[in-house]
Amino acid sequence: ADLSPRQIDRVVRHAHALKRVSLPWLGPQQRTSSARLRMPSQSLFNKSIALLFSKRSTRTRLSAETATLLLGGRALFLGSDDIQLGVNESVRDSARVIGGMCQGIFARVGDHSEIEELAKHSPVPVLNALSSLWHPTQILADLLTLYEHSHSFQKPVFPIVPSTAKPKPDELAVPPPLTIAYVGDSANVLHDMLVTYPRLGHSLRVASPEKYRAPAAVWNRVVELECDKKIWWGTDPKEAVRGADVVITDTWISMGQEAEKAQRLQDFQGYQVTEQLCREGGANPNWKFMHCLPRKSDEVDDEVFYGARSLVFPESDNRKWTIMALFDFLFGKWDLPNTYEPG
Ligand code: CP
Ligand code: NVA
Repeated sequence: ADLSPRQIDRVVRHAHALKRVSLPWLGPQQRTSSARLRMPSQSLFNKSIALLFSKRSTRTRLSAETATLLLGGRALFLGSDDIQLGVNESVRDSARVIGGMCQGIFARVGDHSEIEELAKHSPVPVLNALSSLWHPTQILADLLTLYEHSHSFQKPVFPIVPSTAKPKPDELAVPPPLTIAYVGDSANVLHDMLVTYPRLGHSLRVASPEKYRAPAAVWNRVVELECDKKIWWGTDPKEAVRGADVVITDTWISMGQEAEKAQRLQDFQGYQVTEQLCREGGANPNWKFMHCLPRKSDEVDDEVFYGARSLVFPESDNRKWTIMALFDFLFGKWDLPNTYEPG
């Protein structure tokens, strides 16, 4: 929500460019390989990035560590058992100390107010690696994945380059306006979808049980950004997937909600994403599936998750390139006005 549509588009395109530079032999839809990586920009050379993680992570942590390495820098993983933050030291003091030694902070926190407090007191940029309310870097990876697979939606595709320029064969294409369905819990991943996709021209259809509506802090932002006009929200999963080009879900039990597991499993009965649900609901026959991972079989069955429609592993690979693009712009080049162009 803090980036304009133009900035979002720029980050996604930069991620694609970094991926092409690092993996020049791969087609856009192939799995990334960890072998024979080439180095892109060295904007983090001699720079240290603090990874402040108070919750578990596989993809976000690996993306941040491997992306920092490729950009020539050093990532310092600081788990909540390692440092004084939150136990012997305030967020305010920790932000000033860490920001005095590192050139960027990537933080995964519990309550969203913690990252607001970090950003308020840090002398260096702070990026959200997931909070109770938002998961912005996930949606950037999802967008890159949709861009890369835009031809599979069998709709007219808009080139991302200005209409006067001729697109090169491997250039990214912005997907056509898509109908994106989300079936499941109103959690951090959905919240970033709500403030992002409508601003890029896509429609969102959401189904969640009545008592799992987006909190006011999120919905106020949705309305402020005029995203609500392109969002349909109901309780019927079949209605949500009507006409969907993409179907997305997330775990029903987010980190920190383990005590609510039994109640949530009961409340979300009928919300599992399956072929049958999407067929009966009238999804686009070519619909694709995405999930931020980690996944449980409650919210999506194996047939969909491991099937031909699933983009989940290209999506997880793209966490790395999109986080790399953000680190390059905001940690590597943020103090060089002629290389970072806001707006
Ligand atoms: N999608 C995602 O953020 O995964 P991790 O929790 O493993 O980082
Ligand atoms: N909603 C999930 C996302 C995990 C990447 C959680 O917060 O646990």
